[in-house]
Amino acid sequence: QVAAASGHTVVLVDQSDEILKKSTKGIEESLKRVTKKKFADKPEAGAEFIEKTLKNLTTSTDAVAVVHSTDLVIEAIVENQGVKNELFKRLDKFAPEHTIFASNTSSLQITGLANSTTRQDRFGGLHFFNPVPMMKLVEVIKTPMTSQKTFESLMDFSKAVGKSPVSCKDTPGFIVNRLLVPYMMEAVRLFERGDASKEDIDVAMKLGAGYPMGPFELLDYVGLDTCKYIIDGWHSLEPSNPLFAPSPLLNKLVEEKKLGKKTGEGFYKYK
Ligand code: 3HC
Repeated sequence: QVAAASGHTVVLVDQSDEILKKSTKGIEESLKRVTKKKFADKPEAGAEFIEKTLKNLTTSTDAVAVVHSTDLVIEAIVENQGVKNELFKRLDKFAPEHTIFASNTSSLQITGLANSTTRQDRFGGLHFFNPVPMMKLVEVIKTPMTSQKTFESLMDFSKAVGKSPVSCKDTPGFIVNRLLVPYMMEAVRLFERGDASKEDIDVAMKLGAGYPMGPFELLDYVGLDTCKYIIDGWHSLEPSNPLFAPSPLLNKLVEEKKLGKKTGEGFYKYK
């Protein structure tokens, strides 16, 4: 959405037409929200902006078929190293020489993903934040193998889509998630111990620390499955680090398919 809105030609790829239809609808709704604010007094210019943006956006279920004419691939699939590696390996065979590959991974090391391709110098991290149309930050990750040219291209692209990039070494969680995920897990542990209710913890962090959402609202917003994948991955890297300890409550909710806002229930119910 933000790439198309800033004039880039985008092909959105997913597994089925049904998912793509849902995604396109989500983008249209989000564009309406952005436009309402950006073109408050100019509804005609707003309608034109939406039309232009949607013209820049097509969809496909065949990544291999579209990658041959792509300058930049931004992968944002399931947070699973094996599945991501398989996709990158396949795309690497069909993408043009100059094409840069980037992953939007929340927690996996970019180096491990880059090693599934033959273009380690044209591979980096491009990590966006939910909700992407509103959140100004992008983390740009340079591995020891990423070329300076690739890094600069990723920084330039981030600015071209209207974001403020920061850079970080290829370390677990980069900057934001390395701080945010242990904080959210500490909130779950505080609640699991019975020290405070989730509602009070959320109110406390909003009113006492000025956060726009409390940790449980944010967990539901990000998705409990995503948070579990992140913490499980880090726990397997550093089993003795108490900040990365898994939570029985989080595991139970994910097992029950209560994944947060997207499934209608997580820590809270959404109807
Ligand atoms: N698309 C377009 N506009 C959106 C939007 C979306 N998806 N979601 C919210 N907005 C707009 C609304 O239209 C509204 O615009 P307005 O000011 O013109 O009315 C504005 O954002 C504010 O929205 P709301 O009034 O509905 O609610 P809030 O004031 O609470 O703001 C929020 C919503 C921007 C999501 C804010 O609560 C927030 O900043 N929350 C924290 C988000 C956060 O921490 N994100 C990072 C998560 S971690 C992550 O993503 C990393 C990953 O790897 C796990």
